[in-house]
Amino acid sequence: MQRPDWAPDTIDIERPSVARMYDYYLGGSHNFAADRAAAQAMVAAVPEAPLMAQANRAFLRRAVQFLVESGVRQFLDIGSGIPTVGNVHEIAQRVAPDSRVVYVDVDPVAVAHSREILSGNDRATVLREDLRNPERILTHPEVTKLLDLTEPVAVMIVAVLHFVAPEDRPDEILRTLRGALAPGSYLVMSQASDDGRSESGERAEAERVYRRTDNQLWIRGRAELTGLFDGFQLVEPGVVWVPQWRPESPESAEDAERAVFMGGVGRLGG
Ligand SMILES: C[S@@+](CC[C@H](N)C(=O)[O-])C[C@H]1O[C@@H](n2cnc3c(N)ncnc32)[C@H](O)[C@@H]1O
Repeated sequence: MQRPDWAPDTIDIERPSVARMYDYYLGGSHNFAADRAAAQAMVAAVPEAPLMAQANRAFLRRAVQFLVESGVRQFLDIGSGIPTVGNVHEIAQRVAPDSRVVYVDVDPVAVAHSREILSGNDRATVLREDLRNPERILTHPEVTKLLDLTEPVAVMIVAVLHFVAPEDRPDEILRTLRGALAPGSYLVMSQASDDGRSESGERAEAERVYRRTDNQLWIRGRAELTGLFDGFQLVEPGVVWVPQWRPESPESAEDAERAVFMGGVGRLGG
């Protein structure tokens, strides 16, 4: 097949990518047959997968709105994904046009498409880097040019941590990021969880599907995710199923565990 403009020559379109599978769950068009087949296998195992992606995006939107209302004007969105409806810079700059946003992702399609939609926006940029190299992110020229780390920054690690293996020490990654942040900064995180969900083999099947990609799936429970906010004070309501995080209506928080993702927002005191 002919490669679309947004698909860099370096990518293997026969191997599913988690970024492009997520784009498919969200109804996007930046995905290939291999991504769609893997995403459909995931939906067969976990029928809530598209709902999970939508609920996670809604959480991200409410979290950014909360942060802007709290006075945050700088955002470092790591594992930002292929741009979709309601990207961080759109939400933040609509309310506070002076907001600055740096997107980071390892996926070349996510980076290329982000670069395209950000052209002409001198308060938002994107770079290709791996969350597992936090020092490289913090010292990257695009970060140091656009963000002032002596002022509060919101670090967003939304729907990414379940792609970081325990041996890659997520606790140390977060400690490094936290150590670079000024008081009043925030950490927003969500990740796939099976806390209290009844097991019907869906976890094993989901893990099997994601082994087709470069990213294995690492499910974590509420206690472990809460522990990764170490050093941050969780804002109410803490780490919850994402629909329960400051829902816009009580109905939107019903059957919240079907969203599969748990998330929270922490503030760095001091
Ligand atoms: C499920 S998407 C989430 C996108 C967005 N944060 C959201 O919540 O809608 C996960 C993204 O994380 C990226 N990703 C996975 N592992 C990563 C890593 N180690 N460093 C940076 N990005 C990573 C993937 O490429 C993908 O774009």
